[in-house]
Amino acid sequence: MQIDPKLVKNQFKKSLDNYEENAIVQAIMADKLIEHLPFQYFSSVLELGCGSGLLTKKLIKKITYKKYYANDIVEKSKIYTDKILDDYVFLGGNAQRLQVNARFNLIISNAMFQWFSNLEKALLYYKGLMNKDGIIAFTTFSPDNFKEIKSLTGLTLEYKNLEEIREILSKNFEILYLENFDYTMTFDNPLAVLAHMKNTGVNALSSKLWGIKEVKDFCDRYKEAYPNLTLTYSPIIVIARLK
Ligand SMILES: C[S@@+](CC[C@H](N)C(=O)[O-])C[C@H]1O[C@@H](n2cnc3c(N)ncnc32)[C@H](O)[C@@H]1O
Repeated sequence: MQIDPKLVKNQFKKSLDNYEENAIVQAIMADKLIEHLPFQYFSSVLELGCGSGLLTKKLIKKITYKKYYANDIVEKSKIYTDKILDDYVFLGGNAQRLQVNARFNLIISNAMFQWFSNLEKALLYYKGLMNKDGIIAFTTFSPDNFKEIKSLTGLTLEYKNLEEIREILSKNFEILYLENFDYTMTFDNPLAVLAHMKNTGVNALSSKLWGIKEVKDFCDRYKEAYPNLTLTYSPIIVIARLK
């Protein structure tokens, strides 16, 4: 399923204020990404899809840098990053076609690359924005992500698995760290699952509004298929160096 960036933008604009208290798995992903970075100093950093700055806050505690560029398709993100970063450049717009003259030693992004319609093309584009020996560090999700939602609604993104990502990367990058793990959350009821997805911007999977009947049908089928009310995340962590 291909996702319209405008839909993603609208959903995240609405969920920004509630995002961090619900982004439990995204926080674990950010920690892992930072933990496995090979250096603690990067002359110039480009963060893509910074959102409310969950990764930004954690990253600047761990690394030092001279220049920081933060991007998000939602311009309102700047209000958040202004409070976190002193001297930086905010680049609003689609991360797949940024207009920027700088070159970077670190391109980093948490929980955003899964929206890209063509990962290979995006990585080629970032290769062109990187300095020699530059590092690209990102997290995304495997096809097992939200398998409960996929089985009940058919809605899912075109996630790549670990081996597909390895193959795409190996053409231009030396892989330094690659990991896929599952993290299962449990909820009190199916409505709480829907609320969780809304608050983390994930309902960008569909532009269709559900009526009462569709919500009730979803809740009934969720309880029947997943009596423990689980929701499975399947993140992939990637760190690679430009060859
Ligand atoms: C799940 S949030 C992650 C936010 C943050 N990186 C974190 O660590 O929690 C995804 C973010 O990516 C942004 N985003 C989605 N597609 C984008 C695109 N094509 N270009 C730039 N930002 C995008 C959304 O607006 C949202 O802020």
